Amino acid sequence: MEDEPIQATNDDASECKRCAVQLGYWQDNYITLFIKPTERRTPEINRGYYARVKGVEMFIEKFLKKAGDQAQIINLGCGFDTLYWRLKDADINVANYVELDFPNVTGRKCYAIKRHKQLLERIHDPDSEIRLSSTDLHAGNYHLIGVDLRNLKEFESKIIQAEINYTLPTLFIAECVLVYIESECVHKLLSWIGTKFQSSVFVNYEMVNLHDIFGNIMLENLKARGCNLAGIDACKNLETQQERFKKAGWDGATAWDMIKIYHALPSTDRHRVEKIEFLDEQEVIVQLFQHYCICVAWNGTEFADLDIT
Ligand SMILES: C[S@@+](CC[C@H](N)C(=O)[O-])C[C@H]1O[C@@H](n2cnc3c(N)ncnc32)[C@H](O)[C@@H]1O
Repeated sequence: MEDEPIQATNDDASECKRCAVQLGYWQDNYITLFIKPTERRTPEINRGYYARVKGVEMFIEKFLKKAGDQAQIINLGCGFDTLYWRLKDADINVANYVELDFPNVTGRKCYAIKRHKQLLERIHDPDSEIRLSSTDLHAGNYHLIGVDLRNLKEFESKIIQAEINYTLPTLFIAECVLVYIESECVHKLLSWIGTKFQSSVFVNYEMVNLHDIFGNIMLENLKARGCNLAGIDACKNLETQQERFKKAGWDGATAWDMIKIYHALPSTDRHRVEKIEFLDEQEVIVQLFQHYCICVAWNGTEFADLDIT
């Protein structure tokens, strides 16, 4: 099946996160419950994942600070992301939390949640029953749903099942997901979100600047794994990343490469992380950071000023 290599990118991302967590790059008490250990990744990959996870988290925190417990979070192509459980541990409550991915991936996530008490007890709400199928799980304000994001009708009906409220402030997260979806489908999805939700923010982590030698090597690696990069056009540069949202009717969008994001992270934590593993030379990490970005888009005035400062 042509989507299998795309679904397998979740295993790779989760293995990399697990590896970096176990080396102490950041704390995540749950990732080991979803994915088995594999070989140790290079120091550059570990640091790249640190910047990715902490960079995305920086915007999540800014959003939640403003939106408070009325916030909704919708993670598109969630894979084995553990943010829901990490927020619970930090005593941060949201109105609704929805995770979506291909049914093959959500099925595996459902299975892991059912198997591990630490995961299940944090989603269990004694006031409401757990609704569970082989690919979908609804428990209180947590919803894990199998869907192909290219199918807008199915997406719409699935998020209705998750009791989404279009009037609440809503954060969309996509970490290395849109690049696998045809540009036309992404455009329709972003336009639909933009018109339906009154006040929303989209945090998109993805490749950028792919038209140079390093970018071409990255592309070739992904193609060699059989991944069709149908949404690659938007990854040309920071402008195309921003334009994608503006063309879909969003009020604004700003994109930063990961060099800027990395330096916006708290310096004490950066210095701590830089001591975990020694980098032989800085060139590789600089190139890696130049080829990934975070683009933040917003609709409505409430979240127009989310910045890296
Ligand atoms: C690189 S992984 C990232 C997973 C997770 N966001 C993370 O950062 O750990 C990409 C994810 O996007 C999902 N994905 C890609 N295209 C999709 C589609 N059309 N519908 C649903 N999920 C999709 C894949 O199944 C995979 O889990």
